[in-house]
Amino acid sequence: MIKACLFDLDGVIVDTAKYHYKAWKKMANSLGFDFSEKENEQLKGVSRMDSINLILGWGGITLSEADKAKWASQKNDWYLEYLQKMDKSEILPGALELVQELKEKGYRVALGSSSKNAVLALSKVGMLHYFEAIIDGTKTTRSKPDPQVFEMGAAALDCKPSECIVFEDAESGVEAAIAGGFYAVGMGSPDNLGKAHLVLSSLEGVSIDDILVKITIS
Ligand code: BG6
Ligand code: MG
Repeated sequence: MIKACLFDLDGVIVDTAKYHYKAWKKMANSLGFDFSEKENEQLKGVSRMDSINLILGWGGITLSEADKAKWASQKNDWYLEYLQKMDKSEILPGALELVQELKEKGYRVALGSSSKNAVLALSKVGMLHYFEAIIDGTKTTRSKPDPQVFEMGAAALDCKPSECIVFEDAESGVEAAIAGGFYAVGMGSPDNLGKAHLVLSSLEGVSIDDILVKITIS
């Protein structure tokens, strides 16, 4: 029986994936190269330092660890400029309604994000109080596709993975959920999220009962 839902943040609850992309692009452009939206898909769910390593690889650039840290911090400053301007309008369609429905129906709700800015982003859009546990990049030691973030979320809610549904927009996140024995709902396209139990293009108008039927759980 499903008792809990674990939500990724960027690209599931809030429309921040575009800001991560913009900020990383700014860094790449400053270093004299560019990368595509398709390449950007590989960055979703991936930690800040793992992301910079991938991007520099695409640009064929080698930096010292100190320079990498400097650029990662610069990227984060750019990202925070976008984040500071966020309000409720950046909640993705249907996310607030689904979380509210879950709370009303007695499901446990937690966040499972790779971001170190998760608390700030949730505060900016007024959704922090809905999450009983927040497992984010400040608490994990292993990046998705490792299931650690969701395992910690399930443990914080006192639930087994098989009692939880994970909502994820990243391929690495869906892989993490499946590796941990969770039910996975992919948010986006079946092209890269096909391993999920269910793929939705949006949460708009979606209720937990629809999801339970579609992933054939009773
Ligand atoms: C994930 C995003 O949620 O968090 C990634 O999908 C991002 O794109 C990662 O790199 C780390 O985020 P932050 O805010 O700690 O740099
Ligand atoms: Mg995401």
